[in-house]
Amino acid sequence: MRVSSDTDRVDEARRAVALNPFWYHTIEVAPGVVTPGWFDLRGVVDRMPWPDVRGKRCLDVGTADGFLAFELERRGAAEVMAADVADHALWDYPARIRERGIEWWVDVAGEKKGQGFRIARDLLGSHVRPLEVSAYDLNPSEVGEFDVVVCGSLLLHLRDPVHALEAMRSVCSGQLLVTNQVALRLSVFRRSPLAAFEGMTDLGQWWVPNALGNRRIVEAAGFDVERESGIFAIPFGEGHAPRDGRPTAYARRLARRLLAGGDGVPHHAVLASPALKAHG
Ligand SMILES: C[S@@+](CC[C@H](N)C(=O)[O-])C[C@H]1O[C@@H](n2cnc3c(N)ncnc32)[C@H](O)[C@@H]1O
Repeated sequence: MRVSSDTDRVDEARRAVALNPFWYHTIEVAPGVVTPGWFDLRGVVDRMPWPDVRGKRCLDVGTADGFLAFELERRGAAEVMAADVADHALWDYPARIRERGIEWWVDVAGEKKGQGFRIARDLLGSHVRPLEVSAYDLNPSEVGEFDVVVCGSLLLHLRDPVHALEAMRSVCSGQLLVTNQVALRLSVFRRSPLAAFEGMTDLGQWWVPNALGNRRIVEAAGFDVERESGIFAIPFGEGHAPRDGRPTAYARRLARRLLAGGDGVPHHAVLASPALKAHG
């Protein structure tokens, strides 16, 4: 029997997806072939305050498997670069996690950094270009300027998010779209820009703000906020670790459903532009 080329493509995609033991993003890489990601942004990506990216030069900072970079391309960007650190060891780990050795983090985040991105890019026939650089080191003399810079769910993992945003500002000639995890328990204080310090947990997190705190972090780095989202939950994907079954976890899930509209990681997003560049 002759196998159709569509079937070949789907089989090839299934094999390629299985090669990567850890998927961060849920991505449909071929018809009906979906990566088993930790998170599934597909249903919430339109909740983010996207700028018009058609024909623009764009950068996705902290791309992981590339979901937001591919989204930029899907929305008509002329050129997309996808930046991430070359190695898990280059994350801003709190000292206690660093001392456990990188093996511990490999269990959490997979061994080969960038493997998922490369597989997804090939299967999608994408032209997104990878860039190995830390957010802190972005520099226009090396990468040029971008009309649109996107940074999703990265600031909470950085010891100095304002410093990283300042580096993003140095390469941003147009607009910046930032999503960041927010702490629901701080979100009741809507008029106070607050952040919970999480540097003692096992999650590789530092500062988790409320929505106003997220906005202020972006403003403090020299951006004017144009638009912002409400709080939305990024759903857990098929590959996520088993969920905590303790009663306190159920209570947290209920709070997320009520306050963030779903059971996932609560997020807030802002669209901003470089303040002084725009006015100067
Ligand atoms: C939580 S994931 C977010 C993935 C994606 N941006 C999203 O919104 O779904 C954070 C990503 O940022 C990367 N990362 C961590 N530290 C970084 C740094 N200093 N500069 C650039 N990327 C970094 C990690 O390797 C990881 O891929």
